[in-house]
Amino acid sequence: MVVPLVDLVIQYRNIREEILPAIEKVMSRGAFILGEELGLFEEEFARYCGGSHCVGVGSGTDALFLALRALGIGAGDEVLLPANTFVATAFAVSFTGATPVFVDVDRKDYNIDVTLIEGAITDRTRAIIPVHLYGQPAEMGEIMRLAKKYDLRVVEDACQAHGARYGFRPVGAIGDAGCFSFYPGKNLGAYGDGGAIVTNRADLAEKIRHLRNYAQKEKNVHPVIGYNSRLDSLQAAILRVKLRHLETWTENRRAAAKLYDERLWKAGIDVPKEKSGCRHVYHLYVIQHDARDELIRVMRDKGVFCGIHYPLPLHRQEPYRLVRKIPRNLPVSSEVCGKIVSLPMFPELTAEQVDHVSREIIHFTNGKMERIP
Ligand SMILES: Cc1ncc(COP(=O)(O)O)c(C=O)c1O
Repeated sequence: MVVPLVDLVIQYRNIREEILPAIEKVMSRGAFILGEELGLFEEEFARYCGGSHCVGVGSGTDALFLALRALGIGAGDEVLLPANTFVATAFAVSFTGATPVFVDVDRKDYNIDVTLIEGAITDRTRAIIPVHLYGQPAEMGEIMRLAKKYDLRVVEDACQAHGARYGFRPVGAIGDAGCFSFYPGKNLGAYGDGGAIVTNRADLAEKIRHLRNYAQKEKNVHPVIGYNSRLDSLQAAILRVKLRHLETWTENRRAAAKLYDERLWKAGIDVPKEKSGCRHVYHLYVIQHDARDELIRVMRDKGVFCGIHYPLPLHRQEPYRLVRKIPRNLPVSSEVCGKIVSLPMFPELTAEQVDHVSREIIHFTNGKMERIP
């Protein structure tokens, strides 16, 4: 049995009859940039996230950059973010001219360790980017409390967490702005790059709408330097179809995660734990294993494809070796990056596939234990 990490083709086959007419509609109208489909998607996605506004942009990276830029963050400012995230979270900060400051992560959920945030704040700190990593919400209650106390902006990186909830609140609409990626493999994925910002702040939505379209105030009038970063109409039309399926797909992911939990937990494997009161959307299902690299090799030989998210914490990426880190050596991020492994996870994953993957992991783990004298 071959089990891929992600399978985008099965999903396309299941919704082909809805997708093709949506594409045809855009093509036959010849309106590819901005326009009706984008406006409708923005309304629908804002509603889905419990936010008042949504602005579709070119990617999740652009969403983060434009949100920070619209909040006035730039050179001389510091922005706090977890060390264990995709590199784009830090790049977006760097694009503004501000300095990313890396904070260690919590061992239990891999998200920013909120007990370390206060010690990271200086008189230059302007914002925090909590990343809802793997689909598990960051500790937003405490983050919002600290942000209020120190007058910091909060830009949620929800690129892996469409539909996740912190308490009753969907992520993305809790801070000043929430940033989403529609990269094809995401829980809500386009057929190309795409992203969006969700916010309850009308002023911010307006600024971002302006910035994404060359900062054009009216035809040929550009009061500031703007960007070209718009979610195109074809992707918007595709995402409108897919958004209708997102809750079912999320429940399928959650069911697969529950099956993995049951199979692997009994065998003593370190499985992810859904935070109490939160809804984890399992963009990735990440376990820890001491023999991670060997496990991935053995599994691949048996047709099971795993991933690592991420093998190198950001403070060890070349451009960021010299930045400030809290604490100085980031022990949890440095340790877990050598043990984490992402198992196959996508909405169409079958119970038989989960059983197969789990059996192979348990078999591998037991074999290793038997060799320990
Ligand atoms: C946590 C996180 N932040 C930011 C991004 C950047 O999104 P994009 O690839 O759409 O630019 C991604 C995804 O790739 C991500 O997983």
